[in-house]
Amino acid sequence: MKKLVVAIDGPAGAGKSTVAQLAAKELGYTYIDTGAMYRAVAWKVLQQGGEVTDEKILAVIPDIDVDLSYENGKTTVRVDGQDVTGEIRTPEVSHIVSQVAALGPVREKMVDLQRKMAERGGVLMDGRDIATNVLPGADVKIYLTASIAERANRRYKELREKGLAVNLADIEHDIAARDKADMEREISPLVQAEDATLLDTTGMTIPEVVARIIGMCR
Ligand code: DC
Repeated sequence: MKKLVVAIDGPAGAGKSTVAQLAAKELGYTYIDTGAMYRAVAWKVLQQGGEVTDEKILAVIPDIDVDLSYENGKTTVRVDGQDVTGEIRTPEVSHIVSQVAALGPVREKMVDLQRKMAERGGVLMDGRDIATNVLPGADVKIYLTASIAERANRRYKELREKGLAVNLADIEHDIAARDKADMEREISPLVQAEDATLLDTTGMTIPEVVARIIGMCR
C-alpha cells in the first residue's frame, strides 16, 4: 500500500496526539507532533528567566536546535541536545506557547523542519496548520475537535495522572485563551481546511477515534 501523508489539525486538548500516535503505530507510520516543536522553543525562552517578550523569543530562534525523534512509538524532543520531552508539557510552557507560535520567524524555522520530516511519506503529522499550510498536498486531512468542556476535562485528568497540582477551571480558561490566540493570529491561524474531514470526538472513546482515522486512510 502507498505510504501516505496524513495531516491532523485541531484545537488544544482535542486528543490529537493520543489518537495520532495510536493510528501511526497501527499504520506503521512516523508520528510528528508539531506542537511539541513550538513547546520546545517556549521551553528555551522560559530558561532565560524574566518576562517573556517577543524580542526574547526571536533572539532564541537563530541558534536553537529542535530535534524530534520517533522510535518504538515514542517521541523524544531535544533542545540543543538536551532531552526536554517531559518538561515541555508543564502549564508554564502551555501558558506562553501561543505567543511563541504566533511569530513569523519561529513558524518559518519550524515549518521548514516539518516539511523535511514529511518528505519520505508514511507520516502522520498533527498541529494547527498542517493541512492548510505545512502539507497542503497531504493525502488525508482530518480536523479533530471536541467541546471545550470535554477537552479541559481530558487535559485535567492527564496532568493529574502526572502528579501535577492543577485546577479544572484554570485549564478550561487556558484552553479557551489558546483557542482564541491560535484561531485569531495573523500567520497560519487554526482553521479547518476546505478539503479536511471534520471529526468531532465529543463522547467518543479513543479506540473509536483511532478506528475512524485508520478507516479514512484505508
Ligand atoms: O498541540 P499543542 O497544544 O502541543 O500545541 C502547542 C501550541 O503550539 C498551540 O497553542 C499552538 C501551537 N501550534 C501551532 O501554532 N502550529 C502547529 N502546527 C502546532 C502547534
